[in-house]
Amino acid sequence: MCGIIGVTADPEVYGNVVPRLVEGLKLLEYRGYDSAGFALVECGTGRLVVLKDKGRIDDIVEKYRVTGYCAATGIAHTRWATHGAPSRVNAHPHMDCSGRIAVVHNGIIKNFAELRAMLEERGHRFQSETDTEVIAHLFEEYLRQGLEPLDAFRRLVSVVEGAYAIALIHLGEPSRIYFARNVSPLIIGLGNGFNAVSSDIPSLLPLTRRVLALRDGEYGFIEPYKVYIEYRGRPVAWSERVTHVAWSVEAASKGGYPHYMLKEIMEQPRVLYETYMGLLSSDEVQRAASLIASAGRVFITGAGTSYHAGLVFAYYMATVAGTPVYAFIASEHETYANLFDSDTVLIAVSQSGETIDTLQALRAARKRGSKIIAVSNVVASTIPRESDVAIYTRAGPEIGVAATKTFLTQVLALTLLSLEVARLRGAVSESMYSESVKRLADSGRKAGEGLERSSRQVERLVGLLKEVKSMYILGRGLGVPLALEAALKVKEVSYIHAEAYPAGESKHGPIALVEEGFPVIFIGADDGDMRDRLQSNVMEMKARGAYTVVVGSNAYSGMKGVDMYIGLGAFDELTAPYAVIPPLQLLAYKLAVALGRDPDKPRNLAKTVTVE
Ligand code: M6R
Repeated sequence: MCGIIGVTADPEVYGNVVPRLVEGLKLLEYRGYDSAGFALVECGTGRLVVLKDKGRIDDIVEKYRVTGYCAATGIAHTRWATHGAPSRVNAHPHMDCSGRIAVVHNGIIKNFAELRAMLEERGHRFQSETDTEVIAHLFEEYLRQGLEPLDAFRRLVSVVEGAYAIALIHLGEPSRIYFARNVSPLIIGLGNGFNAVSSDIPSLLPLTRRVLALRDGEYGFIEPYKVYIEYRGRPVAWSERVTHVAWSVEAASKGGYPHYMLKEIMEQPRVLYETYMGLLSSDEVQRAASLIASAGRVFITGAGTSYHAGLVFAYYMATVAGTPVYAFIASEHETYANLFDSDTVLIAVSQSGETIDTLQALRAARKRGSKIIAVSNVVASTIPRESDVAIYTRAGPEIGVAATKTFLTQVLALTLLSLEVARLRGAVSESMYSESVKRLADSGRKAGEGLERSSRQVERLVGLLKEVKSMYILGRGLGVPLALEAALKVKEVSYIHAEAYPAGESKHGPIALVEEGFPVIFIGADDGDMRDRLQSNVMEMKARGAYTVVVGSNAYSGMKGVDMYIGLGAFDELTAPYAVIPPLQLLAYKLAVALGRDPDKPRNLAKTVTVE
């Protein structure tokens, strides 16, 4: 939700930072894209130049000829509106009354109304409706009161309440960027002759791979040759916390594809293999499994796609490991709070490692003494950092707003975890365990095969579905969480209503919507176990005039009443997600493109949701 970036450099060594800011901001665009802006300390004149507007970054850069400016220090922002509608005036950066201070912010300042009232009483004039603007005026107010800039910033941090990642510049110290983090993520990128702050790692990759993830409550400043961090008024020794990220700049680029989403779908064969190899050569899964095996109760939580991965885990834990797992949507964690205790393990699934709902569920469980396992794609992000064991997927940066490759890598990691628990609990024999683990080496190949086998029919299906307003996606057993994930993808990027539920539920209500031509996609996520029962559901739908599609293994070919069968090869429940999900992701992507939507930036969405 909103992306911020700031770079300050020694101009002799590094030159103009403006192209870097633009490049970095574009890599943050997935976090919000209703408006964007830049604040630059202009070379030569030393003026503070603010260029901002409603709309996409590229358009704003062109309209205001941003790359024609030169600066050694600058901050920038891409917005996902919370307080105040998208407009030029509400776009960040925001300034103080004097026009010498500019600030960008991600998050929500909870006490902004009272701060604003207090500042207005003291004569400050506000331009926007945003909560953010109070930060610029508050800093101005403390400077007016005679505080030194660092003291003023320190005071500001002690006064503002809520979630924030802040970057602030002022003309009194033109090569310094003040920053602060609470809840909303903020990363420092360390360089030679420059330093940077940003909401995430991929946007820093064109600059550096040496990064430092700030912790809640930390604040300070960067200069071209200095990083200073404090926590509650005391300097923080941070050098031990610097990480070298393995991701390359290419990993954060489109690599010749028209959209990130398509690139990320197509990358799945490779990243699944990399995740598999990475997890087999580390002890993350074993450590997590021993926590689970000795726990009285196991919960798994996440939001959106990550929650669906949690449902897949709960399925395998029930059917393979014989262990009940309670899966819940992270924002509903309060319902379960009374059940968390020291005999509980909570698994928090989050590709970004920053989703606020998941983080709050984690903190609620931790407070009651539960052990926490994180499954994340971002090393050193908040959720894994606050967990007892972190399992990392190796999907590389995911830029498209719709989660694709991170879903299947989460599923792979969680499947390995369920097998390990099954082994520890004696629910599977050693030989069955090793045979299953070995078969998962094929997950990437299954994904590639699924995409290849389905490509022609997916095209045909797009032709039919792009005309409809609504569809059902149904499954049984493992097919249910896969159907939920497929429906979420279709909704998110194509804006066509897609509803998923267990196929057996059709006759308990939803079938009322079915009329001539209503599309119903059935998922056969096994080697035929569910075929007979799914067959009855197909017939029920067909009898009401539905257009029926079956997406499944070879075992689902030749069913009666099926208008289109998309055969994805031979697989069983263990490898089904890898074969079934990529073609459905591709369907969602192609529907979006056919309907003229931007699949990388669906309306109203942001990739990482750091506000409640
Ligand atoms: O970063 P996280 O995995 O915690 O994100 C959770 C959800 O916000 C995310 O999966 C969201 O539903 C995506 N838009 C799904 O495509």
